[in-house]
Amino acid sequence: MNIGIDRLSFYTSNYFVDLKTLAKARSVDPDKYYVGIGQEKMGIPPPDEDVVTLAASAAYPLMQDGELDDVELFLFATESGIDQSKAAGIYVHGLLEMKRRCRCVELKQACYSGTAGLQLAIGFVARNPGKKALVIASDIARYELRSPGEATQGCGAVAMVISANPRLLSIEPECGYYTEDVMDFWRPNYRLEALVDGKYSTMVYIHTLLESWKQYAEQSGRSLVDFDRFCYHIPFTKMAEKAHQKLAHKLKVSVGKEEMLALLEESLRYSRIMGNCYAGAMYIGLASLLETAEEDLASKRVGFYSYGSGCVGEFFSGIVQPGYREFLYADQHRNLLANRTELTYQQYEDIFNYGVPTDGGSYVFPQYKTGPFRFSGISQHKREYETLTS
Ligand code: CAA
Repeated sequence: MNIGIDRLSFYTSNYFVDLKTLAKARSVDPDKYYVGIGQEKMGIPPPDEDVVTLAASAAYPLMQDGELDDVELFLFATESGIDQSKAAGIYVHGLLEMKRRCRCVELKQACYSGTAGLQLAIGFVARNPGKKALVIASDIARYELRSPGEATQGCGAVAMVISANPRLLSIEPECGYYTEDVMDFWRPNYRLEALVDGKYSTMVYIHTLLESWKQYAEQSGRSLVDFDRFCYHIPFTKMAEKAHQKLAHKLKVSVGKEEMLALLEESLRYSRIMGNCYAGAMYIGLASLLETAEEDLASKRVGFYSYGSGCVGEFFSGIVQPGYREFLYADQHRNLLANRTELTYQQYEDIFNYGVPTDGGSYVFPQYKTGPFRFSGISQHKREYETLTS
């Protein structure tokens, strides 16, 4: 039975900082960001967006199209959880008025948890072929001001419906996965910003890729030439390119650098102007590939490398389904990205420093431009959400 991604929709904040603005404030050459790490803009969530509103807004078009009607499993993947106990997905389940016969839990393993969600959902559909699962990966990548990671911030959510006979991408059964206890990136419960050993994290990312690939290749018998495109986890676009080059070099693939990197290029377009979306980053890459590639990718094989610090990595593959273009939300995504508002440096810092109050009082948050849902306030430690659609 073919199982995989039937529909995919994403959402990001309506506000961004151009990295030229950040470079000026930090007195560094803008090419360090534009060329050195391959990033141009970073999405910044206003005070009335969080992982719940990002996620609900990402899934809203799916709800409107009736795609959530048969969903009985909802997995919410995030590194930026809002509660130690309650799954953020339950708020989304309520906002989207999903049916109550549904399992809903939150998954965590840094940026890998979206892929954990996808693979667990495939298992659910294999056992219940008529039913569907919803996987949402929603995150806010936040590093300290003036830290090396600052330029790699971003935010966004990807909502994917997983079903039998998927209309976008069928996931192949072979996969290589690898876990090792390392401290390259982490966020203790008492911190809002991630801690990261930046250079070390890039080395672990590559080591984990090589290990995951080894297992995948042993299981599938495939080599790199059996792939038409690649989607990598994208903390910043240069990371994906460097890792792919390393893999090709290790495997002694005799393809020129430009030709090799061309197989990644379409998948990096959205991330370059959105920034890191942690658990959703690789799937934003998939949307970018399917929605911006000029070539018809029907029946093409895509290789995926998912990485979550700490760490877990996985290499797997999928086949793009004939007719996939009819089921994309390409225009909506392009409009969202084209109509965002640029922040000045001062606006960015003000938003960054606007913390959610923790004293249990009642607060109403200022209204910014959001999607159909906003995080309107907090009262007695309970988050309050508002639906802006009629
Ligand atoms: N023109 C062109 N290139 C320039 C330049 C200029 N004027 N100035 C610098 N550069 C280049 C540098 O040569 C360097 O390139 P190489 O890596 O090819 O040598 C690149 O720009 C970056 O410069 P630095 O190495 O000096 O940058 P840095 O040390 O200040 O920050 C970083 C880099 C450590 C990766 C930092 O961005 C960071 O900590 N990021 C967060 C952690 C991260 O994303 N890790 C990735 C793996 S972990 C993961 O994937 C999980 C996750 O999502 C977090």
